[in-house]
Amino acid sequence: MKLKILVTAGDGIGPEVTNEAVAVLNEVAALGGYTFEFDSKRIGGVAIVADGTPLPADTLAAALDSDAVLLGAVGGNEFNSMPTDKRPEAGLLQIRSALGGFANLRPAFAFKELAVNSPLRPEVIDGADILFVRELLGGLYFGQPRDWNREAGEAWNTMRYTKGEVVRVARVAFELARKRRKKVTSVDKANVLEVSQLWRATVIEVAADFPDVELEHQYVDAMSMHLMNRPRTFDVVVTENLFGDILSDEAGVITGSLGMLPSATIGGKVNLFEPVHGSAPDIAGKGLANPLGAILTAALILRHSAGLEAEAVAVEKAVRKVLEQGFRTPDLARDNPQGLPVLSTTEMGAKVRETLKTLLVNA
Ligand code: NAD
Ligand code: IPM
Ligand code: MN
Repeated sequence: MKLKILVTAGDGIGPEVTNEAVAVLNEVAALGGYTFEFDSKRIGGVAIVADGTPLPADTLAAALDSDAVLLGAVGGNEFNSMPTDKRPEAGLLQIRSALGGFANLRPAFAFKELAVNSPLRPEVIDGADILFVRELLGGLYFGQPRDWNREAGEAWNTMRYTKGEVVRVARVAFELARKRRKKVTSVDKANVLEVSQLWRATVIEVAADFPDVELEHQYVDAMSMHLMNRPRTFDVVVTENLFGDILSDEAGVITGSLGMLPSATIGGKVNLFEPVHGSAPDIAGKGLANPLGAILTAALILRHSAGLEAEAVAVEKAVRKVLEQGFRTPDLARDNPQGLPVLSTTEMGAKVRETLKTLLVNA
């Protein structure tokens, strides 16, 4: 097994958490006799500063030439007043678009050990296991026209979808539901938006090919409440780009921290892997970042790009074991009534690798 992985660590805590994800992948490679070749390129704010653009041409070329791209996060307060198409976030949207992956899988799993870290009651979240399938290349993020006319005091964006874009992401959601608990919740705003009416009608059409999978529809406003009230009742949740962005951060409440959430984007030329969280400027450079979302993202690389399912499961198991042993990063131990050992980013990464090693050696 040989895999070429491009690391675009980006800004803020991006480099801190991707370092730990790469170290985990290196551990898997060493123990399994696999060859993972890593290359590293700039994206986002660091690329704006060094190259004058958030997605330099050599980064894009290297990404297209790799088997998988691992992205940390982009963005920083110092870039907040730049025009949209020049900002760090533009680099991320450009690379997503160029790689072509349209189905962004964002699993949210509530580890029992982290229940005390959630403001929700343990019995509400216990066993919650949701797979968000976020459409990643359409909707308001990419729809034209878009602009801000400062003189007129007017700005506009376009939420646009074609039927084909909905069909392809809905099919991914149903296929994945088939391998899970066979339920798809489609989230839209069909009571108000034509684009959501197209979305809903298309999802219903696709569902006809999956009679073994239950389909329900929810409006996004109600869904944001149901997600907090009864997260265990959801299996696969499929939705458009912006709704998926918002709901997947909300899932950070179920998992106990936004820093626990991984993602994989599939369906394009090259799969793209990124934790759900951002560059977290408020904690960057201090060793406070939780690397588990990035490490679980490494597990998704093993699953979706390397075809190493057993190793992916082993990484997920190692994360669980480390949490069982009581190890926490600061975001997972805010009140810390039990006085659990609070680890830095690198210490947490090392704990996961240590546990992973015993799991893989004894496998
Ligand atoms: P954020 O996700 O960076 O942070 C939100 C909160 O969660 C902060 O309090 C932060 O400290 C905390 N947090 C996030 N990840 C954490 C981790 N791994 N461990 C511990 N705590 C963590 O969102 P924001 O503050 O709204 O945005 C900051 C910047 O990140 C913005 O420029 C935004 O555009 C960008 N962003 C980038 C991505 C990406 O590159 N994929 C995703 C989201 C936001
Ligand atoms: C995410 C982020 C990005 C998004 C931003 C940084 C462009 O919030 O990956 O969730 O909105 O898709
Ligand atoms: Mn987001």
